[in-house]
Amino acid sequence: MNVLIIGASRGIGFEFVRQYRAAGAHITATAREEAALARLREHGARALRLDVADAGSVSGLAWLIDGERFDVVVVNAGVFGPRTSGLEAPTVADFDVVMHTNVLGPMRLLPQIAEALAPGARVAIMSSQMGALAGRSNPASWLYRASKAAVNSVMKDAALALAGKATVISFHPGWVRTDMGGAQADIDTSTSIAGMRTVLASVKPGDTGSFFNYDGQRLDW
Ligand SMILES: NC(=O)c1ccc[n+]([C@@H]2O[C@H](COP(=O)([O-])OP(=O)(O)OC[C@H]3O[C@@H](n4cnc5c(N)ncnc54)[C@H](OP(=O)(O)O)[C@@H]3O)[C@@H](O)[C@H]2O)c1
Repeated sequence: MNVLIIGASRGIGFEFVRQYRAAGAHITATAREEAALARLREHGARALRLDVADAGSVSGLAWLIDGERFDVVVVNAGVFGPRTSGLEAPTVADFDVVMHTNVLGPMRLLPQIAEALAPGARVAIMSSQMGALAGRSNPASWLYRASKAAVNSVMKDAALALAGKATVISFHPGWVRTDMGGAQADIDTSTSIAGMRTVLASVKPGDTGSFFNYDGQRLDW
């Protein structure tokens, strides 16, 4: 199996690398810093430098993966942005970092990745239940929520554009103990990624455009 993980320096992305390598997959993984790239190489991945919020960096991806045919792609890189509780207006700088990383990044990456998919490939975008409008009862961190609602729309359009070529889904990985999720989160990365790998192994073309919890449960928008 040939796997591409975008945003793999730590947390959820790194655990995808660790588990897919343990399962014998060939991995290409991206990070921004040299130390993270070296750690990915130590773990047997082909490591590529990529900043998803940098247009020049993303535009170089296509030739770096030219000739590859990925069976699984995980677009994982993301930032949380300001932790707000109500209607605190974001600064332009915060808005740009969160939206450029979580939304514009995938919109620039997906066209390049589309050229490097194996027949029947599975593409997962790391979203969040915090982006769901259904059942929302708390406005905390509304900039992050808006970015994940937007990336679910991006996922849906990618699913339509790649119909017949790839199954495209988004995930809520659970509330996971990472730098972003914090020490109080519900589950560890091992549980979250094991669940998502099981979902990725079992999704069918008819599932394209769906939003899944890490345990395989379908989520409302
Ligand atoms: N943890 C949770 O409970 C939870 C819940 C729902 C959704 N998620 C989503 O899951 C994904 C991973 O989260 P995590 O918990 O693993 O977070 P994390 O520990 O904060 O790691 C974030 C990852 O994204 C990378 N990244 C951030 N900005 C980037 C950029 N401009 N270019 C390339 N890579 C960039 C980071 O790389 P650097 O090391 O270079 O910064 C790091 O690898 C995110 O999309 C997040 O929104 C997480």
